[in-house]
Amino acid sequence: MDNDSLKKATKKESENGSSSHGVVSQAKDQKPVKATVLQKDVGLLSGICLIVGTMIGSGIFISPTSVLLYSGAVGPCLLIWTACGVLAMLGALCYAELGTMITKSGGTYAYLMEGFGPLPAYLFSWTIVMVLKPSNLAIITMSFAKYASTPFYPDCTPPVVVTKCLASAAVFVIVSVNCLSVKLASYVQIIFTAAKLFIIVVIVGAGIVLLAQGNTQNFSNAFDGASQSFGAIGLAFFHGLWAYDGWAQLNYITEELKDPHRNLPLAIIIGIPLVSVCYVLVNVAYFTVMTPSELLVSPAVAVTFGDRVLYPLSWIVPLFVLFSTFGSANGSCFTAGRLAYVSGREGHMVKILSYISLKRYTPAPAIIFNGLLAIFYIMPADITTLINYFSFAQWGFNGLTALSLIVMRFTRKDLHRPVKVPIVIPGVMVLVCCYLVLAPIIDNPEVEYLYCASFLLAGLLLYFPFVHMKVKWGRKLMRPITLHLQLLMEVVPPEKTE
Ligand code: ARG
Repeated sequence: MDNDSLKKATKKESENGSSSHGVVSQAKDQKPVKATVLQKDVGLLSGICLIVGTMIGSGIFISPTSVLLYSGAVGPCLLIWTACGVLAMLGALCYAELGTMITKSGGTYAYLMEGFGPLPAYLFSWTIVMVLKPSNLAIITMSFAKYASTPFYPDCTPPVVVTKCLASAAVFVIVSVNCLSVKLASYVQIIFTAAKLFIIVVIVGAGIVLLAQGNTQNFSNAFDGASQSFGAIGLAFFHGLWAYDGWAQLNYITEELKDPHRNLPLAIIIGIPLVSVCYVLVNVAYFTVMTPSELLVSPAVAVTFGDRVLYPLSWIVPLFVLFSTFGSANGSCFTAGRLAYVSGREGHMVKILSYISLKRYTPAPAIIFNGLLAIFYIMPADITTLINYFSFAQWGFNGLTALSLIVMRFTRKDLHRPVKVPIVIPGVMVLVCCYLVLAPIIDNPEVEYLYCASFLLAGLLLYFPFVHMKVKWGRKLMRPITLHLQLLMEVVPPEKTE
C-alpha cells in the first residue's frame, strides 16, 4: 500500500466532504470519521499542566545547590530565583503575543519563519530536533533513573549501567504513551503535575511552619559573602534558568489547542507565576532547615530536607521527585514530537517525520525519532557537559524570537494581534539573551563552543542541497525508505484542512 492508497482507505469511509476541526463527515449510523490531522484535544487545564508539568522537573529539587554556590549567599540566591521567574514570565509574554498572532504549531520555529524566513527557522529546528530536545529528554530521564535506583543501593551509588538502562526504559514508556494517544499523554501530564504540586505544597507548608516557629537564623546577614563576579552570577542564572526551562512549551502545539486565542495566554499567565512563586517559597523552605554550607554539600537538597523535616515519612520526597521527573519528560517528549512534525511538514526535515498515525492521530514517527535520539544520548559516557555548551544556542534562538516580535511590529502590521505586549518587553529579552549567549563565551572561551558552531555549519551545508535546491537523488533515495516506514508504522501525510 503506498501513500495514496493509505489515504484513500481513510477517505473512502468518509465519502469526503469539507472538514473543520478534524471531523471530515459523517455517514448515517457511522461514527464520525476524523480527517487525518492532529486533533484539537488540548484544553486549558492540559495546557497549564503542559507548562507547569514540564517546567517543574528535577531542577528545583537539585539546582538550588549550584545557584547558591555561584551567588555566594542566601540573599542573592533568592533574588536570582526571583529574577529567573521574572525572565521566564517576560519571555512567555512575548510568546503569548507571537502564539496568538501566528497560530501555527512549532513555537519559535513558526515565528522565525514568519519574521526572518526559512533559513533561521531551519537552523533552529536542526539544533533543537537533533540535539537539544532529545538531550533534554536524556537528562531528565537520567535524573529519573537516579532517583528510581538509589533505594536499591543503600550503601553505594547505583551502577551506571543500571541507571542508563532504567532511563532508556523510561524513554520507551513515554514514547509509547505519546504514540498511543494524545489524550492519554495529556492525562499522564495532568496526574504527574498534580503529584509534583503536592510535594511542593508539602515542602512549602513545612517551611512556613518552621518559619513560624522562629527558624529564621539563615536569613539574617543574608548578603554577607555575596559573589561579585560577573561570570559567576551568569552561571548562577544558567542553573536557575534550567529549573525554569519549559516556559515556551505550549507554543509548540498551538494547532492542537482548543481556542488558542484565549487558552494560550491564559495558560501562560496562570502557569508561569505559579511556578515562580513555588520555586521561591521552596528555596525559602530549604533555608529554614539548612545553613548555606549544609545546603552546598547536599547531593539532593529536597531529599535532605525530607530527611530532616518529614521523618518518618521522608521517603515521600524521593518518590514524588521521581514522579516529577517522569511528568517533565512526558511533557518534553510531547512537544518535541510536534516540532519535528512541523519542520518535516515544511520540508526542513525528512517528510516521514511529518506523518501521523492513521488510527491514533499522533505524530508517531516524530515522537519515535526523538526517543531514539534520546537513547542515543543516554548511552555514551557523560554528555551533560557538552549539552551545557549548547544552551547558549538555545538562548540565541530565544533572543532572535524576541527580535522577530519587534521586527514584525513593523513588517507585518496587518497581522491580527489578540495579545499585544509593550515593546520594551521583547527589547529587554533581546538584551538579556545577548548577555546569556556572550557572557559564558567571553568569560571562559572553550573549544566546545566551536563544536556547536560547526554543528550549526553542518546544518547549513545540508540546507542548500536538500532543502533549498531539493536535489533529485535525495528524494529518490528517501522514497523507498519512507514507504517502508509508512507501512511499518501505519502513518500518512496529514490532510489539508481549511
Ligand atoms: N525545568 C525542567 C527541570 O527543572 C527541565 C525542562 C527541560 N526542558 C524542556 N524543554 N524539556 O527539570
